[in-house]
Formats: sequence, structure tokens, C-alpha cells
Amino acid sequence: METTEQLKEQIEALQQQIKEQEKLASLGLLTAGIVHEIRNPLNFVINFSKLSDTLIKDLADDIDDNADKISSDDMEDIEDIMADLKENIAKIREHGERATSIIQNILQYSRGKEGLRIPTNINALVHEYVWLGYHAMRANYNGFNASIKEQYDDTLTDIAIVPQDISRAILNVVNNAFYAIWERANIEGEQYHPELQVTTSSEGEMLRLRFDDNGGGMTDEVKQKLYDNFFTTKPVGQGTGLGMAITLNIIHQHGGRIEFDSTLGSGSSFSLIIPINKK
Ligand SMILES: Nc1ncnc2c1ncn2[C@@H]1O[C@H](COP(=O)(O)OP(=O)(O)OP(=O)(O)O)[C@@H](O)[C@H]1O
Ligand SMILES: [Mg+2]
Repeated sequence: METTEQLKEQIEALQQQIKEQEKLASLGLLTAGIVHEIRNPLNFVINFSKLSDTLIKDLADDIDDNADKISSDDMEDIEDIMADLKENIAKIREHGERATSIIQNILQYSRGKEGLRIPTNINALVHEYVWLGYHAMRANYNGFNASIKEQYDDTLTDIAIVPQDISRAILNVVNNAFYAIWERANIEGEQYHPELQVTTSSEGEMLRLRFDDNGGGMTDEVKQKLYDNFFTTKPVGQGTGLGMAITLNIIHQHGGRIEFDSTLGSGSSFSLIIPINKK
């Protein structure tokens, strides 16, 4: 038989364990958010260094074509500078990739504390992040293209949200849409007209941010696992599978919900729905 004293001790030990686990969980939440946020600028660094490498090759060709007009001294200088530039760019790329792999290794769980709500022009925010996502896609995926149709509800006034969180949610939904479009474009080629439709509207007390893509859509399995941490159908290095988990978390923290609808082969629709008056 255990004495009351022993039971008390056991309870205290368990409570301590729970506290430790809670601490770990919130640390993990924070880490995953940071990782997700850092990966995008790092992709820019890596991809623009790749792009610059190609540009140097083009430049070298142009110089070769005009070699007869350049003195041999100048030519030597040019070649030295080009060699240095190439080396620098290779270093930028190498270390960018190293940083990417480091943060991917630290990757753990979802998100941290609630941020500050600020009255925000939601239409402007949506517009800004849709185009940011579009330009990022164009920088990362050669030949990516899509027509973007925007329809904004002018009656929407400033809405109290955590702008950095909502912008991240928008960016993730938009990135997913563009990626689905990109995948479909690669399969169907010329006759496919990639399109993203962006709509904001108010429905009573709720605000709806809606994104309709005509990408490849989702299977039932993907629909079921959509919000699971680390669930991704993207190739290694392309997706962490945290985007929608983080997005759902952000929308829940705003007291809202996400609706989606998707048909395999013809596209998906995602709506971020949040209360307008929640301060
Ligand atoms: N608009 C969409 N069209 C088709 N599939 C989608 C769409 N949005 C999400 N998905 C599917 O849901 C999966 C999970 O999305 P989620 O954003 O959570 O992760 P991810 O995009 O793979 O990685 P990341 O962490 O970089 O966002 C995707 O891999 C994709 O298969
Ligand atoms: Mg994503």
C-alpha cells in the first residue's frame, strides 16, 4: 500500500513532467514558424545566385565575341574579375544551401504565442501578399505563369488582425495554389490557362478571403491529411508540410475557420474566414 505522502510525491512528479512537456511543445511551435519564415528568403538567395551564374556565362560569351576589340591587358583583368565573381556566387549558393539544410534539421513543431492585433486594410494586405507569392514563384520556377483575377470588397474597413500572421496565412495558401498550378501546367502544357482568382467579401460579421486555383486539385487522402504536421506531397526540399497546419492555427487564433473545396483535375478553393469585429 502506498502512503498519502508517496501519492503526493507521484502527483508532483507527474505535474513537473507535464510542465516540461508544455515548455517543449511551445518551443517547437516557435521553431517551426521561424523555419517556415526563413526558408523563403533563403530560397531567394539560392535562386538568384543560380541566376547570376547563368548571367556570368552569358557575359563571358559576349566578351569572347568581342575579344578582338579588347586589349590583352584589359582581357586579363576581365577574366580575373569574372573568375572571382563566379567563385563568390558559388560561395553564396553553397552557404545558402547549408543554411537551408541546417534550419530544416532544426525543424520541429508548430507555433508560438498570440501577436498584437492591428487595424489593417485587408484588401491591400491580400493584394500585396498574392503578388509577393506570384513573384516568388516566378523567381523559383522557370517559366511559371498565371493570370491573377482580383475582386476586392470596397466596403471592407480596417480589420483588427495580427498582420504578420494573416499575411503568412495568405502567402501559404497562395503558394500552395501556385504550386498546384505549376504542377498542372507541366503536365498539360500549352492548352492550359493557369489562373488564380482572389476574392474578399464580408458576410455579416465574418470576413472571407477566398483563393480559387485551377491547379490539379486534391485527392481524398490529401484532403484528409491537409492540416497534419509534416504532411506534404512535394518533393524533398520543396515543402515542409507545415504550411496548412500553421495557417489553421493562425486562423483559429483569430477566432475563424478555413473552408475548402477541391476537385481532382480541376482545382481547389480555399477560404480563410475570420470575424470582423473581434478586437
Ligand atoms: N491549392 C492546392 N491544390 C492542390 N493541393 C494542395 C493545395 N493546397 C494544399 N495542397 C496539398 O496539401 C499539402 C499540404 O500543404 P501544406 O501547405 O501544409 O504543406 P506544403 O505546401 O507541402 O509545404 P509547406 O510547409 O512548404 O507549405 C500539399 O503538399 C499539397 O499536396
Ligand atoms: Mg504550403
